[in-house]
Amino acid sequence: MSYKRYLITAALPYANGPVHIGHLAGCYLPADIYTRYQRAQKRDVKFVCGSDEHGVPITIRAMKEGITPQDVVDKYNAIIKDSFAQMGIAFDIYSRTSSQTHKQTSQAFFTKLFNDGVFEERESEQYYDESKEMFLADRYIIGTCPVCGNENAYGDQCERCGSALSPEQLLNPHSALSSAVPVKRKTKHWYFPLDKYEEWLKEWIVAGKKDEWKPNVYGQCKSWLDSGLQPRAMTRDSEWGVPVPLPDAKGKVLYVWFDAPIGYISATKELTNQWSDYWCSKDTKLVHFIGKDNIVFHCIIFPAMLKAHGGFVLPENVPANEFLNIEGEKVSTSRNWAVWVDEYVKDFPDQQDTLRYVLCANAPETKDNDFTWKDFQDRTNNELVSIFGNFVNRAFVLMHKLCNGRMPPLHKNIMTDADRALIEDLQKAKTKVENCIEGYKFRDGLFEVVDLARKGNKYLQDCAPWSLAKTPELQQEHQQKIDNCLHLCLQLTANLSILVNPFLPFTAVKMCHMMKVVDRMLDWENAGKPDLLKVNYPLRAPELLFRKIEDTEVAAQVEKLQDNLKKSGVATKMDSNTTPATIAAAAPVEAKQDAPVAKAEISIDDFTKMDLRVGTIVKAEKVEKADKLLKLELDMGNEMRTVVSGIALHFKPEEIIGKQVTVVANLAPRKMRGIESRGMILMAQNPDGRLIFVSPLEMAAAGSEVR
Ligand code: MF3
Ligand code: ZN
Repeated sequence: MSYKRYLITAALPYANGPVHIGHLAGCYLPADIYTRYQRAQKRDVKFVCGSDEHGVPITIRAMKEGITPQDVVDKYNAIIKDSFAQMGIAFDIYSRTSSQTHKQTSQAFFTKLFNDGVFEERESEQYYDESKEMFLADRYIIGTCPVCGNENAYGDQCERCGSALSPEQLLNPHSALSSAVPVKRKTKHWYFPLDKYEEWLKEWIVAGKKDEWKPNVYGQCKSWLDSGLQPRAMTRDSEWGVPVPLPDAKGKVLYVWFDAPIGYISATKELTNQWSDYWCSKDTKLVHFIGKDNIVFHCIIFPAMLKAHGGFVLPENVPANEFLNIEGEKVSTSRNWAVWVDEYVKDFPDQQDTLRYVLCANAPETKDNDFTWKDFQDRTNNELVSIFGNFVNRAFVLMHKLCNGRMPPLHKNIMTDADRALIEDLQKAKTKVENCIEGYKFRDGLFEVVDLARKGNKYLQDCAPWSLAKTPELQQEHQQKIDNCLHLCLQLTANLSILVNPFLPFTAVKMCHMMKVVDRMLDWENAGKPDLLKVNYPLRAPELLFRKIEDTEVAAQVEKLQDNLKKSGVATKMDSNTTPATIAAAAPVEAKQDAPVAKAEISIDDFTKMDLRVGTIVKAEKVEKADKLLKLELDMGNEMRTVVSGIALHFKPEEIIGKQVTVVANLAPRKMRGIESRGMILMAQNPDGRLIFVSPLEMAAAGSEVR
């Protein structure tokens, strides 16, 4: 079946906190890869998302931070939106469920179902806080867990032992808002009769989708359907949410899982006047990208709602990923055990594609997976840098060296089997990657791309054009062979940029710049062609595509995780239940805690910028009202210098007269306590904090250069 339009959604994240890399790996990255690929195929595609701004998680966060729910969603919507933009998650629209369009759209949806008599009205007893005069969501009831005795278990779950609970099971239940003991009170709600849609859902999913949907998705649906569906309340007693559009519904709002998925429709409405072309036409392929905790809502409840309403397309597929653990432990926001995207982009500026690469290569597509910083480093250094980056870089460097910086010609008459095999690999790669992406197998697709680069490396290594050019005479003799080799390597590079583009878009753009081609070359139809770059066209110098991740960066990140955990103060699980993986991750950091963090590598040029000289201290005195500073007069051979140094707690002025020290002589002058300091003296610091002069072992002439 071929479709006219693609409508791609990614789960609306709750605006109750920043997004972490588990979110990215779970649905935003795969959705973005899929969308970028469809765009490159020149298909009519819309990619919609936005913040989920209603529901209990938001009000809980507001309570914790002592601010209003509106403050919470304003704050986190901005952070989340920015994180996505930074990571190149290129939505056509990122909206919010607090928008007016959404209010109207979700209310109209509810009203239509109401008028059609879909809902069942039911009264039930629910916990009520008499002092606050409000009904309490399960999360707002706190009590003792009947399973493990945790005194701070919630009415829906105990965070210590993980048991799912109902408020009735808690011992000593009390309200999280007032500590009052909650009482039961009658309340009326509108229920969606899921049971009446069971047969239809079985038909649609079991008979229709089982071969298309991922086994994890299908399996969850099947077990829900097998255990029988129950009517589900679509309204709640709360102040925060979309008001129920009925006259007798004061203090009631739409259930967040009723309004949020309708958010996909509202966002599309805000995006385009043609929104109904996408939502109300059989020619649309609707794909929901989600994490596994959202399966029932997207495969059962929302489709049943759409069916009941009528006129909407149903999802063609719901490719849900499993969870990404961190260093062997489940992500926990309360324990701050997570790698936050906004922090990643600060810690690793311009390394978005590195994270995209690792998260995709290790995506939890079929089972929960583990993210470790060591694996992040290994994959970056051994795959991205050594295979992909290295190939592209070598092809460009050699072309500049051996082909005058221009695209060399291909001499057909001397082509070898290896040349032809490379062209064949390049043609095959297109179909392989295409099939993987169309089948939501993004890991495999990315593997194929890197594999093509690996083949390029091998080909280049076997041709070894550098050895054909050891002397000018030799090069002249072999120039045609050299041309052919680099011609094909560069055509392969052009192909790599197209194939890698959905996965690593920042890299693809850099490669286009190096090849001096416009972005249009990245159109998917160009993949598989061995003649994308014009012969004799001058190409730019190679740019650094990826950089190595240092051990110190890994250690710093692991340490950060441990620190966050300590600061979060939620020790619960860790005390009794620290897993070996966590210990292993923490150990190297614990051992090295006092070792200074190594700095990034510098070039010899960086080093020689420093003017280091030997100076002799001829005078030293305390700086008034500054107990740490000494004012030093240094004999620098041809001049005297004043240097203010923060060593007064370590040395008496009189004991250091005559000492020789190393001086950074070209440091920009700086005023300290009104004294101009011209230079800085170097000191070593012992782990115990003691300072030691960095002096020549023998007397050197004052002013000698240190190199
Ligand atoms: N906010 C939900 C979550 O983070 C996802 C909502 S998806 C939507 O789990 F379909 F309801 F929008
Ligand atoms: Zn418990």
